[in-house]
Amino acid sequence: MTVRTLPDTLMLAEVAADWLAQRVALKPELTVLVATGQTPMGMYGRLAARVQAGTLDCSQVTAVQLDEYSGLAPEDPRRLRDWMMTSFVTPLRILKVVPLDDPATFTAELEALGGLDVAILGLGPNGHLGFNEPPSGPDAPTREVALTPESLLSNRHYWNGLDVPTRAVTAGMDVILGARETLLLVSGAHKRAILGAALDGPETPEVPASYLRRTALTVLADQEARP
Ligand code: GLP
Repeated sequence: MTVRTLPDTLMLAEVAADWLAQRVALKPELTVLVATGQTPMGMYGRLAARVQAGTLDCSQVTAVQLDEYSGLAPEDPRRLRDWMMTSFVTPLRILKVVPLDDPATFTAELEALGGLDVAILGLGPNGHLGFNEPPSGPDAPTREVALTPESLLSNRHYWNGLDVPTRAVTAGMDVILGARETLLLVSGAHKRAILGAALDGPETPEVPASYLRRTALTVLADQEARP
């Protein structure tokens, strides 16, 4: 496990962009699990700038969706698919996407691709990854789940006062932990305690992120999250 504390979110975004760009340079057809949420947006913006400048080519990358709310109409503005498309897939000029709708189709598509090369993850305030809410063990499959009150609350600020859907489909812990490398991005004092539990506490289904230590994990945190 590599843990790096960066002075601020700008540096976090830059170092995170370097991390992914290096991997794309080594393997242009990288398969990448893509978190939405606020933490990785700076990273994605920097990657997009490099693509635009012609210093990074992501045209052979496959983007894999991490999670999606259940029961939304295709045009609903809260779709996490659209967030992934507008923040990552479109600006990075990525052509291949594995969407997350039906768990069985998703699992089969991912298997056909040979699994994930890289997972880019944020940390839920309750230790969730994607929407693997506590308790989620390491073998939890891709499935539909009910969101916890913590997730409903933390997701509320994404949607300008719109309600947060109460159920979601998430890539399973088995998918996430199967990635050949994992990048966890954590920012802000409100994540400090849960990041400490994930990195320094026992492995437990009550903190799903604690299982990331089983993977080839890089953690990038800002000063507030990991002083
Ligand atoms: C959300 C999402 C996750 C995200 C995490 C952290 O609920 N389901 O995919 O990574 O929580 O979000 P943020 O980066 O906004 O703190």
